[in-house]
This record gives sequence, C-alpha cells and structure tokens, in this order.
Amino acid sequence: MMHLGRLFIVFVTIEICASASHFLDQEWNAWKIKYEKSYKQSQDERFRRTAWEANWEKVQKHNELAGQGLKKYQLAMNQFADMTAEDVQSKSCLVYNKSSLKSSEVPNQIYSENVNIPKDVDWRKSKCVTPVKDQGGFCGSCWAFATVGVIESRLCMNSDELINLSEQQLVDCDSSNYGCCGGFPIKALNYVAENGIMKTKNYEYAQKRLKCEYDPDEAIQLNATKFYILPDEQNIATAVAMEGPITVGFGVTGDFMLYKKGVFDGDCAPYANHAVIIVGYGTEENEDGEEEEYWLIKNSWGERWGDEGYGKIKRNVNKCHIADMAATIDLRG
Ligand SMILES: *[C@@H]1O[C@H](CO)[C@@H](O)[C@H](O)[C@H]1NC(C)=O
Ligand SMILES: *[C@@H]1O[C@H](CO)[C@@H](O)[C@H](O)[C@H]1NC(C)=O
Ligand SMILES: *[C@@H]1O[C@H](CO)[C@@H](O)[C@H](O)[C@H]1NC(C)=O
Repeated sequence: MMHLGRLFIVFVTIEICASASHFLDQEWNAWKIKYEKSYKQSQDERFRRTAWEANWEKVQKHNELAGQGLKKYQLAMNQFADMTAEDVQSKSCLVYNKSSLKSSEVPNQIYSENVNIPKDVDWRKSKCVTPVKDQGGFCGSCWAFATVGVIESRLCMNSDELINLSEQQLVDCDSSNYGCCGGFPIKALNYVAENGIMKTKNYEYAQKRLKCEYDPDEAIQLNATKFYILPDEQNIATAVAMEGPITVGFGVTGDFMLYKKGVFDGDCAPYANHAVIIVGYGTEENEDGEEEEYWLIKNSWGERWGDEGYGKIKRNVNKCHIADMAATIDLRG
C-alpha cells in the first residue's frame, strides 16, 4: 500500500513537471514568433532559453507581488526577455562622464522656487510629441533619439508642425559623439544647433553608423537661444512645465528593460547608461491610498516596451540618476 502511494507521488510529480515544461515550450515558441526571434545555432537557442526562463520566473514572481500591492510596477516578457544581466550591462549607450562636462561649458538653469507650476504635465496632449521610435537592439543611439525627440517637440511648440527628424544624421555625422557606441545629448543638442537637422524622410534610420550624408540645403535650422543643464528635480519640473520636454540620463538594469507599467522604483545601474525624454510628470494614488510622484518618460525601445513605449519613474528621489544629466535647449519662439 505504502509502496503504491509513493509510486503515485512520483508519477504525479513527473506529470506536473512534464506539463510545466510543455507549457514553457509553448510560451517560448509563442514569444519567439511574437518578437521575431531566431537563433542561428541550437546552443545559442539553449543559452537564450535559459536566460528567458530565468526572466519568466522573475516576471511571474514580481507581478504576483504587484498584484498584492507589494510592488509599484509590473514587468512583462517583452523583446528583451532573452537577455542576461551581463547583456543589459553591455548595452550602455550613453557616454556619461561628468568630469568631461566642465561646468563652464554648459550653464545650469536655476528657476525661482516661487514659480507656480501645475501638479500634472503631459506634453503628449499638446500633440507635439512624435510617435515612440525604436533605436533597435544593436545600436547604442539612445542619445540621438533623446536629443531629436526634444527638438521635434520644441519645434512643434513654436510652429504647430510636428515633423519626424533624423536620428541617423546624428549617428553618422555628429563627431562629438560616438554613433552606435554611445553619446551625450548635450553635445548632440550643440551639434544640431550648429548644423541644423534633416527630416527623417530625407535621412532614414539605419540602426548602424554609416557615412555622413548630411545635406545643409535640406536641414531645418534651429535658432537656438540657449542650452543648459538642469541641476535637480525641482528645476527639471519647472523646465518641463514651462518650456517642454527635456533629455535625461538613466541607469538601466534588467528590471527596467522588462518594465510594463506602474511607477518604476526598481534596481538601478551605478551610473546613467541610457538617455530618455521627460515629457511630463504627475502623481498617482497607490494601493495604500498614498500619492506616488512620477516622471513620465518617452523611451526609444518601440511601442512594445513599457506602456506603449512610455514609462513612469519615481520622482524626487533622483531615481537611477535621472537628475544627474538633465539637459535641454530653448528655441527662439
Ligand atoms: C572622462 O573625461 C576625462 C576628462 O576629459 C578623461 O580624462 C577621462 O579619461 C574620461 N573618462 C572616461 C571613462 O571616458
Ligand atoms: C513619424 O513617423 C511615424 C513612424 O515612425 C509615423 O507613424 C508618423 O505618422 C510620422 N509622423 C509625422 C508627423 O510625419
Ligand atoms: C530661424 O531663423 C531664420 C532667420 O530668421 C528663419 O528663416 C527660420 O525659419 C528660423 N527657423 C526656425 C526653425 O524657426
């Protein structure tokens, strides 16, 4: 009798494991199709599958906690779900070097603390924010997307015309930055102010650095009046409210790559390794009825990342170095 019972337990266990692995196989295949993944060799696929399974478990656990109100944001098995922590680390696309940015080079903008700014700002409502773009998996050009996104919005706010502008021009032609190997938005803003910028339709994104094809006759000239660094989150909020979207750096880890929605307060890299655009800010009530302050950011990882390409990041705690390299430009109105 006892013998039979044990056999039964063994059998049930095998059955459960087999169906779990069958379930994961199905999930894996569906995910590969959805994100158009194919691996050249079976050993690549095994490696990626292992990374994907680790992320799958992490996402399930995290979202369960989020469902219980114990996490403020949710994760998803998005296009980055087959990446390891080492892959994320090596993906940096920001050359962040505070010592190379002498304070005399770019002035700080300090606003009066008495300026009244709205409680919530969302520049998407102004219709002056272009659709979320995708820098692609193999080009560290976030700095170009962050810079171009800010310029697209600022030009539109001056002219009421929303035009997609060329990141590729910056990747190919801005020699103060490093193409697909990273860059610095404040330097890119300076490049665009000096050279102007072409439209996407005349200079399309290629996901790799190519020969510079810049044609000054086709470039829009900016009439920039000034660039500046925003030294802290209070000044960032004032600039976003009064001037428009700005660029910031951000220290990305695996958590942020798999972010889905909610107010991100997860793990950070030790320095800013990615650039995004702040398009607004606000507060939302969490499960405990507390007000959660956030930045609304536009990313350049396509619409399948985050909340249709956008994310919310905890505000007023310098989350993941978001206030360390905030920069922007004013155009003549
Ligand atoms: C940062 O910039 C300083 C000054 O330009 C330079 O000496 C140093 O090598 C740079 N560090 C890195 C990591 O690029
Ligand atoms: C900008 O490009 C996107 C595709 O990335 C397109 O859907 C959109 O219509 C374009 N917007 C304008 C104003 O041309
Ligand atoms: C910049 O200024 C020039 C000369 O005043 C003007 O022709 C041009 O339209 C301006 N560009 C923008 C984007 O406002």
